[in-house]
Amino acid sequence: MPVKKISILGATGSVGQSTAQVILAQPELFDIQAVTANSNAELLAQQAIKLKAKQAVVADSSAYQILKESLSGTGIEASCGRQALLEAASAPCDLVMAAIVGFAGLEPIMKAIGSGANVALANKEPLVAAGALVMEAAKKNGCHILPVDSEHNAIFQVFDEGQRRGIERLILTASGGPFRTWTTEQMATATLEQAVTHPNWSMGHKISVDSATLMNKALEVIEAHYLFNMDADKIDVVIHPQSIIHSMVAYEDGSILAQMGAPDMQTPIAYCLGWPDRIRTPGLKLDLKKLIKLDLEPVDTEKFPAIGLAYSCLEKGAAACVAFNAANEVAVEAFLERKTGFTDIVETVRKVFDTIEFVPLETLDDIVSFDGAVRTLAKSYMNNDQHRKKVYLA
Ligand SMILES: NC(=O)c1ccc[n+]([C@@H]2O[C@H](COP(=O)([O-])OP(=O)(O)OC[C@H]3O[C@@H](n4cnc5c(N)ncnc54)[C@H](OP(=O)(O)O)[C@@H]3O)[C@@H](O)[C@H]2O)c1
Repeated sequence: MPVKKISILGATGSVGQSTAQVILAQPELFDIQAVTANSNAELLAQQAIKLKAKQAVVADSSAYQILKESLSGTGIEASCGRQALLEAASAPCDLVMAAIVGFAGLEPIMKAIGSGANVALANKEPLVAAGALVMEAAKKNGCHILPVDSEHNAIFQVFDEGQRRGIERLILTASGGPFRTWTTEQMATATLEQAVTHPNWSMGHKISVDSATLMNKALEVIEAHYLFNMDADKIDVVIHPQSIIHSMVAYEDGSILAQMGAPDMQTPIAYCLGWPDRIRTPGLKLDLKKLIKLDLEPVDTEKFPAIGLAYSCLEKGAAACVAFNAANEVAVEAFLERKTGFTDIVETVRKVFDTIEFVPLETLDDIVSFDGAVRTLAKSYMNNDQHRKKVYLA
């Protein structure tokens, strides 16, 4: 594989750090341009030094001094602020790893696409909120969006574009999260610590909570719709507690192709970093000589209403998807700050979804301003709601 120029947005996060591990196992294959974070300047500086990056950027300007001091004498350029982040996202590159969490990653992703780089997309929220815009921009600029999310990466690996007409359905697998066997009443008492303890994956806090509500799978249904241009009624979700089959594609001749692997993000990350070649990873490997159980079961959509809401979003259109994501981000943040109960998260999303007026959205500015309006509404519901569950502390 020729040496690839790469930037990592969200380098200090769970995906960002796994990306660094894959790169550091074969540094001769990569030439790192920019690494970015929000405010974790110390870790970002360490990453930048290890990866021999050209520049490091913190979006939060108050973290700049620490970044600058930590990089002093290294020759690595330090900068800060939203504008510097957007510039780093558009620095000339072969591939940008988009691993910021949340809607905040949308504009950097659009900048990366605008620069003509391929994008390894972990950051699913921007695709949920602005899927059509992102995919159109990628097409216009001739860049590939390579899915990092393990489910979509699995589908990408077994989706034969040349046989598109013969593809009947996409089957997304879901572990079911830490509360798969809990009742709704038990879930109402879930603590933050219980919600972020995923049975199989080690991830950032936001996606861990999303996995517990199954909002993560709901976001992934929308993500799959945009990434693979598949109608909602051709996207299924099944529970697979072991997280070994990462997802499947069903063809009209009855064949179902699955991609399997250990639950370790290094595999889909390496697939995207190497694409179209394959490269090594130092991460976990599946040992098929050991007895492996593969269970599949239907998802309980009454217990996990987020899944049904995702299909309603795709029926209602772009604004519904923006609202769905924005309300969830607000509610998860409140839960992470112990300001609301676990089951209030999806209740808030549903309430916003039931009341908001779905306006037509065409431009990036339209989407950003609608996202802001939904956040204000979601916060007002959370602040005024007398019926919110008690917050359960560990
Ligand atoms: N973790 C996984 O295994 C996994 C799997 C599939 C998909 N994903 C998706 O990948 C994305 C990243 O997930 P993660 O678990 O790696 O998240 P994470 O551990 O929370 O890391 C998030 C990264 O984004 C940066 N960041 C946060 N807010 C930002 C802002 N406003 N501006 C610029 N940078 C910002 C953080 O910087 P600081 O460190 O300075 O805060 C950090 O580098 C999410 O969209 C998630 O859904 C994750």
